[in-house]
Amino acid sequence: MKNRSINQLSKAILAILGLMCLGFSIVIIILLTPGEQFIQEPNYSFYCGVQSETEPHTDITQISVLEQRGMILFKESCAPCHQCSSEALVGPGLKGISSRKSFRWIVNWIQNPSKVLKKRDKYALKLFENFNRAEMPAFPNYKKEDIKAILAYIELYP
Ligand code: HEC
Repeated sequence: MKNRSINQLSKAILAILGLMCLGFSIVIIILLTPGEQFIQEPNYSFYCGVQSETEPHTDITQISVLEQRGMILFKESCAPCHQCSSEALVGPGLKGISSRKSFRWIVNWIQNPSKVLKKRDKYALKLFENFNRAEMPAFPNYKKEDIKAILAYIELYP
């Protein structure tokens, strides 16, 4: 008699556990099922490797070949230290760089920052101090065309 009630009790516990598991699974399924608001347009958000909900997503198919090329170069070489916004990372945010400095200055800088610093370029020296004397690597292989592409990409940032 005692054994039987223990048996019944364990059956009841098993049943309760089973129901709990079932309920839990249902909750998980509901949570994981995308509702209307979660369904997104195919989205190729790419702003400088930074994805955020406050930044608009641009369709990669809508940007020019030059900008796409700039995106690849930027992500590869610049994104570890720079953002296209005005927010600093390791280096300054590059938003508005084309209006801040001449194309020639930017090319000289990217191809050989230490040469620009050695020439005691005031702007560069100040920047260098402001960024804790962190040295930007030189990209001597980047030709004007490559840098044009990078700048075009940076300018996509709203
Ligand atoms: C390892 C980090 C690093 C990488 C990678 C890097 N930079 Fe920089 N960059 C810096 C730092 C730091 C500065 C600030 C000046 C200094 O400290 O030398 C800077 C400054 C600049 C400036 C001047 C910004 C201004 O506000 O005037 C430009 C333009 C720039 N970088 C472009 C680029 C581009 C384009 C690339 C990719 C091809 C790149 N950087 C890759 C670290 C980096």
